[in-house]
Amino acid sequence: MRSTLFLSISLAIAFSLLTPLSSRGQAQNAYQYNIEKSLVASNGAVVSAHPLASQAGLSILQKGGNAIDAAIATQLALAVVYPNAGNIGGGGFMVAQLKNGKTVALDFREKAPAKAHRDMYIEPDGKANTDKSQQGHLSCGVPGTVAGLFAAHRYALLPFRVLIAPAIELAEKGFVITAGEARGLNNLQSDLKKYNTQTPVFVKQEEWKAGDTLIQIDLANTLKRIRDNGQAGFYEGPTADLIVAEMQRGGGLISKEDLRAYTAQYRTPHRFQYKEYSIVGMPMPSSGGVLLHQMLKMIEDRPIATMGFHSPEAVQLMTEVMRRAYADRAAFMGDADFYQVPVKQITNQAYLQDRMKSFVTGQPTPSATLQPGTVTGYESEETTHLSVIDKKGNAVAVTTTLNNSYGSRTVVGGAGFLLNDEMDDFSIKPGVPNMFGAVGGEANSIQPGKRMLSSMAPTLVLKKGKPYLVVGTPGGTTIPTQIFQTLVNILEFNMSPQDAVYKPKFHHQWLPDELVLEKGFPENTKAALQKMGYPFGKERGGIGRTELIRVRPDGRFEAVADKRGDDSAAGY
Ligand code: DON
Repeated sequence: MRSTLFLSISLAIAFSLLTPLSSRGQAQNAYQYNIEKSLVASNGAVVSAHPLASQAGLSILQKGGNAIDAAIATQLALAVVYPNAGNIGGGGFMVAQLKNGKTVALDFREKAPAKAHRDMYIEPDGKANTDKSQQGHLSCGVPGTVAGLFAAHRYALLPFRVLIAPAIELAEKGFVITAGEARGLNNLQSDLKKYNTQTPVFVKQEEWKAGDTLIQIDLANTLKRIRDNGQAGFYEGPTADLIVAEMQRGGGLISKEDLRAYTAQYRTPHRFQYKEYSIVGMPMPSSGGVLLHQMLKMIEDRPIATMGFHSPEAVQLMTEVMRRAYADRAAFMGDADFYQVPVKQITNQAYLQDRMKSFVTGQPTPSATLQPGTVTGYESEETTHLSVIDKKGNAVAVTTTLNNSYGSRTVVGGAGFLLNDEMDDFSIKPGVPNMFGAVGGEANSIQPGKRMLSSMAPTLVLKKGKPYLVVGTPGGTTIPTQIFQTLVNILEFNMSPQDAVYKPKFHHQWLPDELVLEKGFPENTKAALQKMGYPFGKERGGIGRTELIRVRPDGRFEAVADKRGDDSAAGY
């Protein structure tokens, strides 16, 4: 099973005499490459948002690296070929099962700078200024990705300099951009001019078009400093100087001390059982694992498989489950290093059954009447995902982000990389929605050094203790509801991995009280839900970009890259 989509750009390239290459066991060429939407491989597989990044990971597997090596190389390559969300100026999470059966969760989420404070986005008139939390220098959290990659490296086999080599080459020699990337860069031009103190390489007089070559010398030099000096090549020395100088020119807060003090953190994965499967997810400061736990457990004892995929009954049940979980997100979830998140209580089976007492088949529970649960004894479109697996038994799910598409739109002058606008994931004022419409309060308020609550949900599903599914997606607050659907599609509706990823998705997040459907969602189901009284939000062209690997009964890996973007699988 394999579908290949030749990039139209390959036709536009002058030196198209080069042999057409496949990402299946052969080297890709940065000037002419293919998108592989799905494949089956025996030795290892990588799925990511860009064919050249998946290829970088594959080349590392073929050099004897394991899935962790490949994930590091893929993430670094994404920072070059997918500036939209691939990054070294952002942060993220990794969930992995190692070949010895140990599961790990790595938190390299950005942190609020030391000078940040609760009311930093509140204007004198008391209004929250979301422009400042969403764009430009003041929206940037202290980046975590580079620290995360070095922390992950303890489980890798190859030297870091080998893993970063493909990224350096792509930055230095350049690569041709896809139509999607050209569109993204063209849409960005005025913001780039507005939010930068020095003109970045992404600014161009004429329109970007598919097949144009993007060379990033400043970024290549930053990557070389990381290669030569390790983590200090980013958090200290010239790169740190450039970040701080950029902050000072643009009124941002990140200081040398913030950078020097940043550490990635290993945490205990959020793990639970769904029927015969063990689900391994990300704990706080991601809401992903807990939301998935709540949603799956609220449907576990209901006959969803017999209701049928996209049936009004199944969609209504899942919507109500989403609504209940997201009400708890707003009230209880945040960085557990700063706020006592009642994880045990809100994932307790009796608590979840209680939450479902107000569920009525065929009727919406208005969000206005549904409060977060009562907890007793309690005190207090862009991101990117990559999935990797190897035949040694390692499975890795990594989701990282700059938050918005191209993050804060601010490129560090002289260092060539975009900084995140992750500060907007905090609740900048109780009840004020962030860019994904999510509200929050005390649990997710801004404090120096605190990590902002995330929805990113890199997830593993284990069967008899062995990797079965490796999955994740971007999509802001839709991330956990998408993973929920992908898992239900496979575990309950017995769908193929490709259908599970490609079929239209839906989303509810308590507030706003609206059901959001993806284009292509069946009209008759929509009509039935409308009749039940569900209000609908604006239809979305595409929800997320899921990268999924499933281990087949014969032990081979079935890798699916989402059709919603340039996402591409590689394997051998
Ligand atoms: O961590 C989060 O939940 C968000 N910053 C993720 C942003 C995202 O997925 C944007 N992509 N569409």
